[in-house]
Amino acid sequence: MTQKTALITGASVGIGEATARHLHALGFSLILVARRKEKLDKLNSELGGKHAVYECDVNDKGAILTLLEGLTCDVDVLLNNAGLALGLDSADKSNWDHWETMINTNCLALAYLTRQLLPKMVARNRGHIINLGSIAGTYAYKGGNVYGATKAFVEQFSLGLLADLMGTAIKVTNLEPGLIGGTEFSNVRYEGDDDKASSMYTNCQPLTANDIAQTIGWLVTQPEHVNVNRMEIMPVCQAPAGVSVYKEGS
Ligand SMILES: NC(=O)c1ccc[n+]([C@@H]2O[C@H](COP(=O)([O-])OP(=O)(O)OC[C@H]3O[C@@H](n4cnc5c(N)ncnc54)[C@H](OP(=O)(O)O)[C@@H]3O)[C@@H](O)[C@H]2O)c1
Repeated sequence: MTQKTALITGASVGIGEATARHLHALGFSLILVARRKEKLDKLNSELGGKHAVYECDVNDKGAILTLLEGLTCDVDVLLNNAGLALGLDSADKSNWDHWETMINTNCLALAYLTRQLLPKMVARNRGHIINLGSIAGTYAYKGGNVYGATKAFVEQFSLGLLADLMGTAIKVTNLEPGLIGGTEFSNVRYEGDDDKASSMYTNCQPLTANDIAQTIGWLVTQPEHVNVNRMEIMPVCQAPAGVSVYKEGS
């Protein structure tokens, strides 16, 4: 069997790093993308140094094109994982720069990379695009405003890709996790306030990056005729717990 290649954005830490480790163990060749090259280099050397490493801000369209033009192999799996949440303020008090960064990174950069890579997948009639959505794209929560909206975009974009690619062998999956601990996600959201970030995970057992990596490993090893369109995955301690009612004075 020929070796498959996975391009992973946001491979420096968290879900991307855990998935890189797992896909490496499954025999994949990897293209590791993130801004912190030193972390990618360290990961690559731990994995035997045989993977490709690209220091790249996914918001830099020129850098994305350079990366894609420089590839010497075809991409079988595109894991659009790079993404972030910034802040938890109410919409009327939110920081506009935060909103722009989330929309740019979670929506525009993901769409741009997909758009640039897709023609080759179509020409080969082969490939699997896995987008990191979130339960935030389905269930609203206070302060989730634009982050949730970006993940709703990712979900609908994934479904749109599936519609467009019907008749090809290309797979598309929107993976929608809930609370995941042990990544930098909350540290980034709270801009380095690590106490606040870690308080998200006290007295409960969140998912781990490795849980998601294992799930992705399962997704990419399904038979050729099987596509998982959407997958929502939460820790047992979490549930979509319904609609809230505001009571005066509370
Ligand atoms: N953690 C959760 O609870 C959770 C739940 C549902 C969905 N998700 C989604 O899962 C994905 C990964 O989250 P995570 O928990 O693993 O977060 P994380 O630990 O903060 O990792 C985020 C990754 O994205 C990369 N990244 C961010 N902005 C980038 C940019 N402009 N260019 C290139 N790379 C960039 C970071 O690398 P550099 O900083 O080195 O560039 C890092 O590798 C995100 O899309 C997130 O929305 C997370």
